[in-house]
Amino acid sequence: MLADLDTMEREALAELETVTDAAALEAFRVRWLGSNGRLRSAMDALKTVPKEAKPAVGKRLNEVKAAIEGAFNVRRDTAAAAPKGPPIDVTEPGFAVGEGARHVLTKTIDEIVDVLGRMGFSVADGPELEDEWHNFNALNIPESHPARGPADNFFLGGEVAGKLLLRTQTSTVQIRAMESMKPPLKICAIGRVYRPDAHDATHYSMFHQVEGLYVDRKVSMVDLKTTLVQFAKAFFGPEAEIRLRPSFFPFTEPSAELDMKMRVMRNGVPEWRWIELGGCGMVDPNVFKSVGIDPEEWTGFAFGLGIERVAMRKYGISDIRLLFENDARFLRQF
Ligand code: DAH
Repeated sequence: MLADLDTMEREALAELETVTDAAALEAFRVRWLGSNGRLRSAMDALKTVPKEAKPAVGKRLNEVKAAIEGAFNVRRDTAAAAPKGPPIDVTEPGFAVGEGARHVLTKTIDEIVDVLGRMGFSVADGPELEDEWHNFNALNIPESHPARGPADNFFLGGEVAGKLLLRTQTSTVQIRAMESMKPPLKICAIGRVYRPDAHDATHYSMFHQVEGLYVDRKVSMVDLKTTLVQFAKAFFGPEAEIRLRPSFFPFTEPSAELDMKMRVMRNGVPEWRWIELGGCGMVDPNVFKSVGIDPEEWTGFAFGLGIERVAMRKYGISDIRLLFENDARFLRQF
């Protein structure tokens, strides 16, 4: 039996030398190390070895087993480390990946945040999935208001039916900011809002707004107007102007519609035009009360503008849908 073990070891190691690929290596493993392999048979045969010879044969068997397994492992590891596939041709030309660029909307947003940041507004955030409190109640929009109807909102179904919706305005962040921070505060919020509008050149069911809110003692309409003029000039250039037209929003009193005279592109030619961009006003005392801020002590202004409007006019984009189709040929122009 001892002689047989020597032969076995020699045979196995010699065979392993001839193994060149993964399939042959696996065949070797099955034949020698597998559960019906030759090592297993040798171990079974140990039972028939006379008692006196057992220790010596057993010891030798363990050595042979360790030798074959060790050599097998070395072979397997070197095979795994060896490069697979054809050698690399380092002279072959690479693929042109091209340079990425920010989306025209992202660029507009970054510019707006930059200007507002320099004017002292810090960025606040809120969820796109909102409850009725933040989207309506706290903003002084009564239960009976037509804007709360299912035709004007994306309400969720199921258990939360009628309770949660995709926010229709970033004014929700005014409420969240005032709930979590004490006045004085000066924040802006940028984000997506959702309305069930049919898509056409000027409407989309999702778009972006920028909201501004300033709460302090003795804030007046003059502060609002000054802030908006400064913003317009910093964003569009010194020739920019603003115009406020009396209007109504439940969360501001008085309220105004905001137009800016801005540099727009029309058929590739720049010109200055009045563009309606959003709304603004003095924070309604009811809004302050709903977030536990004393309206006798604190005052504030707020504004909300549509970002697509700004971007489209600034860059001469005639169809809002182009902003969301992500056609690289369109995006590359900005
Ligand atoms: N939330 C309004 C809208 O989506 C815009 C707006 C108007 C925001 C007046 C304001 C504001 O903060 O004071 O149409």
